[in-house]
Amino acid sequence: MSKKKILFIIGSLRKKSFNSTMAKYVEEIVRDKADVEILEYSKLPYMNQDIEFPTPEEVEKVREKVSSVDGIWIFTPEYNYNIPGVLKNLLDWLSRPLKPFAFQEPTAISGKFVTISGAAGRSAAAGARESLAELLGFVRTEVIGEAGTGVSVPAEAFETNELTLSEENKEALKKQAEEFLSALK
Ligand SMILES: Cc1cc2nc3c(=O)[nH]c(=O)nc-3n(C[C@H](O)[C@H](O)[C@H](O)COP(=O)(O)O)c2cc1C
Repeated sequence: MSKKKILFIIGSLRKKSFNSTMAKYVEEIVRDKADVEILEYSKLPYMNQDIEFPTPEEVEKVREKVSSVDGIWIFTPEYNYNIPGVLKNLLDWLSRPLKPFAFQEPTAISGKFVTISGAAGRSAAAGARESLAELLGFVRTEVIGEAGTGVSVPAEAFETNELTLSEENKEALKKQAEEFLSALK
């Protein structure tokens, strides 16, 4: 069977993001069954309906990438019990019609299979993951595994800037990967 294409979206622009660390681990465990790419979206403009059409080049690029994959795995931090603004901005662009007023037609993200993980403080990104699951349903995606896997970053990791995933975290991510890969078949 041919490999599935999975796009990773990291909701943090931080160089040593703990969510990127988690994404790297997931890439290792799915590597045999899927081709993974990380979405570059740091240059997206802020959503502004004045500049929606003609579609800005950076928006075209992320929409093309999203349209071309079988599934999307979002790794999100939690900012004030919700998703970071950069991730919300990306999803707002992806949720919009491809042509003016074509609200009933598919968008770049509608119908896509999506799964969620999140690394944050004590809450294990519960607020962000739950909000994200709700938002993804609203933008007509198929959310696999509901609010997904949460990782509570230990206090010492904030001091060293290095996250070591626990065995429990790794098991949860493996289980999520299996469920997600079987949904993509
Ligand atoms: C503006 C802001 C708000 C935050 N709010 C929360 C929060 O509500 N809950 C939480 O657990 N962590 C919160 N954090 C901490 C981040 O979730 C945490 O640093 C996370 O590791 C960042 O993800 P990253 O390492 O992938 O960049 C907040 C951080 C920032 C910058």
